[in-house]
Order: sequence, then structure tokens, then C-alpha cells
Amino acid sequence: MTDKTFTLTNDQTGEKWTLPVFEGTQGPSTIDIRSLYADTGFFTLDPSFTSTASCKSRITYIDGDEGILQHRGYDIKDLAENTSYLEVCHALLYGDLPNTAEKAEFENNITYHTMVHEQLHYFYRGFRRDAHPMAIMCGVVGALSSFYHDSLDIWDPEQREISAHRLIAKMPTLAAMTLKYSLGQPFVYPNNELSYSANFLNMCFSVPAEKYHVSPTLERAMDKILILHADHEQNASTSTVRIAGSSQANPFACIASGIASLWGPAHGGANQAVLEMLRQIGHKDNIPEFLERAKDKNDPFRLMGFGHRVYKNYDPRATVLKSSCDAVLDELGVDDPLLDLARELERIALEDPYFAERKLFPNVDFYSGIILKAMGFPEEMFTVLFAVSRTVGWISQWKEMIEEPSHRIGRPRQLYTGATERKVRPLDQRDPSRQEAAE
Ligand code: SDX
Repeated sequence: MTDKTFTLTNDQTGEKWTLPVFEGTQGPSTIDIRSLYADTGFFTLDPSFTSTASCKSRITYIDGDEGILQHRGYDIKDLAENTSYLEVCHALLYGDLPNTAEKAEFENNITYHTMVHEQLHYFYRGFRRDAHPMAIMCGVVGALSSFYHDSLDIWDPEQREISAHRLIAKMPTLAAMTLKYSLGQPFVYPNNELSYSANFLNMCFSVPAEKYHVSPTLERAMDKILILHADHEQNASTSTVRIAGSSQANPFACIASGIASLWGPAHGGANQAVLEMLRQIGHKDNIPEFLERAKDKNDPFRLMGFGHRVYKNYDPRATVLKSSCDAVLDELGVDDPLLDLARELERIALEDPYFAERKLFPNVDFYSGIILKAMGFPEEMFTVLFAVSRTVGWISQWKEMIEEPSHRIGRPRQLYTGATERKVRPLDQRDPSRQEAAE
């Protein structure tokens, strides 16, 4: 807290209230309104939280105007170029990148939790083969808690840590099983001799009938994609995890709630929606027509992979992914016309006043799908990969909230605009044409 304050005045009564200001290490300061309702009888109204800080956090910092993303103070480009995903996991969970000994210990802890209980295989059998992979992930991750009754005490730091390790370690295994199930191929067990990303690729793409060699290019591209999606401040799915965790639900249930929230095409589902959009556009000659549709409020079409609640500049993750596109596709010998179409769409959109005025730039989802498609992933798996990566962000934010001594259950209020009190009428006297009491 600072000695700075804001004074609030009720212009109808002249009453004044002094509200304390909290300043962070960087970014906007906050006005503490926790006592506002008790003091004034008024709520604040901020339906999609455009001006609301839901918590204090030390994990991730975003400057939307400058297009800056930092995890524990490290710039995302620096992390993407110079660390591994598990090193970033260590930083998000514990506050700093690991030294040599810490890295070896953390990698060992994760590696030795990659297998899932054999009973989980039967959970998959209950789904249709064409079930959306995110539907399966919502189910099996939520069900994980039923296998770990020994580590559900959220007040025990050791059990919180083992749950975090289990989730980070098992998400790739569950995700790969989801892919294999959709393909009708046998599940591939984890191989503890492989790196985190190589193991994931092996579980996804190897088959018992032949040897599979994990390409170092794919392994590095996978690790970089996981780094870029690891955490992102208080986004919709992270806020979902925090709210679920505030009720003291177990961490597996909280992560399952994050997966459900991430699935939406306005959020993590956008990476799949971008490919669908590019295919719908089909050819660069059709771009102007679709840009006009994106501007038309009466047309539900939106430019998927464009725009962001926080970034009013280039999403730095999109910049890294865009530059990786060439390298990965060249290395894989993939010539995807959708990449050329994406580039042309971005070029034309950024020249269009509608998008420029609203500061709509490509976000993390605009290029990620093109790389994932080139790597051999079906489009329906793209958001699952996002969830695999984001699990460390979700569980780190959950851990930070649980370890905050002052945390309480999250319980927003509302501005009520419905019917005021009225009597129940006998069934034969209720007007069939009545409307809900007008707002
Ligand atoms: C992610 O929050 C995070 O950090 C999320 C994320 C993470 O890592 O966790 O970064 C991951 O979810 C990235 C975003 C992926 N979603 C998409 O690409 C879907 C397409 N984008 C839009 O749906 C939208 O931009 C959002 C949902 C991302 C942001 O929505 P906002 O902040 O509510 O923006 P808005 O709707 O208020 O838009 C402001 C204006 C509006 O026009 P006006 O009313 O001012 O005339 O911009 C327009 C919008 O209509 N607009 C778009 C647009 N996005 C916003 N118009 C056309 N196409 C778009 N994509």
C-alpha cells in the first residue's frame, strides 16, 4: 500500500470517501475498493472486468500497449530462445529459473510422474472416437482426483507440490492418449529417457509397428510452443481456475474448469478457429469480402486470431510464432498455402483503418495452428496442446492464491434489473401472454 489515495464523492449527498491506492512493481496502480459496499452501500459494475484487478500476483506481467510479456521478470522472447519449457515451469511455480541442480531435480520429479493409472484407459473407452479432444480432456483431468486421494489436502504444501508435478507431468500423456483414441491407434506409454517435448511427440506420433525418431526440429518447435502458451496473467481460463480454487476445490477439478473455459473460440479455441477461417476464406482474392464481414456487427464472422483484451499492439508470442513458421515449415519440407494466405490477411488487415483504429493485431493463436498443422497435429488437438502448456500457468496461479493468507472465496455481486416482489397467482389466473417484468 502507499500513502496515496483517491477520494470518491457522492454528488447527490456530498458524502466523500477516501480509498487507498496500491502500487505494483510495474504496470497500473489499483484503487482498493474492498470496503466500498460496506462504506457506501454501492457496488462497482465491471461485467467483463475491463478495469478490475482480481488479485495481486508476482507471476506474469503484460504491458498491452507496448506488447510486453514477462514471466517472473523474464521477457517471453528471451525465454523462448534461451530456456526449455520445464525451466519456465520451474520459474512460474517457484519464482525463478532453476540452476543446474534444481533443473535436474525438477526434470526428474516431472519425468517420474508421466504415467497415468491404467484404469484411466477405460475412461477413454466411454467416449465416441469422434468426440472433440477437449471434451475428453475435461472429463479425464477432472477424474484424475479420484486416483490421488493421498494428495488432495490443499493446505499441505507438499501435497500441493505433488499435485502440481502430477498435473504438469500427466497432461501430455492424457493429451497424447486423446489423440491416439481419436485415431484408433494404441496408447503409447511415456518414455522416461526422452525430454518432456520429445516424450510428448513420441506418445503422439509413434506406433508399435515401426521405430519413431523424434526430429530435433519438431522437439525444439514443440518446446517453444509450450513456452509461449504457459501463462498469461488473469485471462479467462486462469480466472476460472482461481475462482474454482477459491472454493477450496481440489487442484485437478480446478484445472478441469480451466480446460473447459479455454475451449471457447474467443479464448484458446481460437487456434482451431483460425485454420477453419483461413479455409473458409480460401483465396487471397476473397480477403476483402471477409474483412467487410468482420466489421459488420450483424455478421457473427470475426477475424479469428486477431484482437486481444490486453494487447493493443503485437502479441509478442505471435511475433515469435510468425518467425518460427518459416523455419519449422522449411525444416519439415511443408509448403502450406494457408501460411501465405495468413500473411496476406495480416498485411491487408493491418492496413485497414477499422483494425488499426481498434488496435487489432494478430494474437498468439493466429500462427500457432499453422505450425501445429505442419507438425502433424489434427486441428481439433490444437486447443488441447494449449491446455497442456497452460496447465503450469493455471497451477502456479492456483498455488499463489492458496498461499495468499488473505484469500477468500470469490463471490462477485450484481446490479439486479429483474422483477420486483410480486404475488404468485393461481394457475388458471396467470396471463399466458405476459412478459417478464420490464427492466
Ligand atoms: C487468447 O486474455 C488472454 O490473455 C487470452 C490469451 C491467453 O494467452 O490466455 O491471450 C489467449 O484467448 C487470445 C485471443 C484469442 N481469440 C481470438 O482470436 C478470437 C477473435 N478475437 C475477438 O473475439 C476479441 O478480439 C477478443 C475476444 C480476443 C477480445 O475481445 P474484447 O476485448 O472484448 O474486444 P471487443 O470485443 O471489445 O473489441 C473491441 C472492438 C469491437 O468493435 P467496436 O464495438 O469497438 O466497434 O474490436 C472489434 C469488436 O467488434 N473486434 C473485432 C475482433 N476483435 C475485436 N472485430 C473483428 N474481428 C476481431 N477478431
